[in-house]
Amino acid sequence: MDAIEQVADLLRGASFPVCLTGAGISTASGIPDFRSPDTGLWTKVDPMKAASIDAFLDDPVEFWSFYRHRLGALDTAQPNPAHYALARMEKADYLKALITQNIDRLHKRAGSSAIAEVHGSIDSAVCLTCGRQYPHARMAEALVDPNGLPRCDCGRILKPGVIFFGEALPEEQYALSVSWAQRADLMLVAGSSLAVWPVAGLPDITLRTGGKLVILTASETPYDERAAVVDPRPLEEILPHLADMLQA
Ligand SMILES: NC(=O)c1ccc[n+]([C@@H]2O[C@H](COP(=O)([O-])OP(=O)(O)OC[C@H]3O[C@@H](n4cnc5c(N)ncnc54)[C@H](O)[C@@H]3O)[C@@H](O)[C@H]2O)c1
Ligand SMILES: [Zn+2]
Repeated sequence: MDAIEQVADLLRGASFPVCLTGAGISTASGIPDFRSPDTGLWTKVDPMKAASIDAFLDDPVEFWSFYRHRLGALDTAQPNPAHYALARMEKADYLKALITQNIDRLHKRAGSSAIAEVHGSIDSAVCLTCGRQYPHARMAEALVDPNGLPRCDCGRILKPGVIFFGEALPEEQYALSVSWAQRADLMLVAGSSLAVWPVAGLPDITLRTGGKLVILTASETPYDERAAVVDPRPLEEILPHLADMLQA
């Protein structure tokens, strides 16, 4: 039996299937992931500069000189067939919940609704001094000017609402994802190297509570040996095929 047929069967038999996604589901939208050889972001920029809380705190102006381009690229990206397939599967009740490490908002834009964004998203910006939150537009408007910087009403430079290395995860979103991982009798991992903790521990929670794991990710992951099905083919091809198979 083809791997995707096996996944369809597992989904038909599951009572609380969840999906955990990573950067690999958005590469077909033109957003580079972190760890793919050659195209991954980490091969081009120093991660500690691009996405660490210390880099932001040390020099927010320098941080924004990099991040303004990334935000621009994220803003123009569109959901791809893999995002739409997961949204269709949720509507047809073949997925109960979606946990994403992505900060690009593409799942929401594709129509998924039960989502935990465990690494935050670019939907908001926050002032680390006074705690005030602003919508995405606050960043977009400031960045129209090539020398502009998004600032809080208190004057400090804003941080995008994404979780950087060195920061704690948003408590509520993470607690929600842990509860989904516990409840899940099936977890599909789509496009994640499962290298970033604590999210990388979620599949283990599902396995330990008796659930099954499906890994749909191009590269190897630390969980491949414990998975019921592993399929490395491009998500933008196999997920629409899976949704069709389920008549979702
Ligand atoms: N789109 C985004 O929002 C975005 C982009 C880059 C990084 N991030 C952040 O990166 C961190 C890194 O962890 P991660 O595990 O999500 O990313 P990762 O880069 O570590 O892993 C991505 C995985 O997806 C695979 N992949 C790439 N394209 C694929 C495709 N078309 N089909 C199937 N598999 C494909 C790669 O082989 C790799 O294993 C996360 O914290 C996330 O917040 C987010
Ligand atoms: Zn402030």
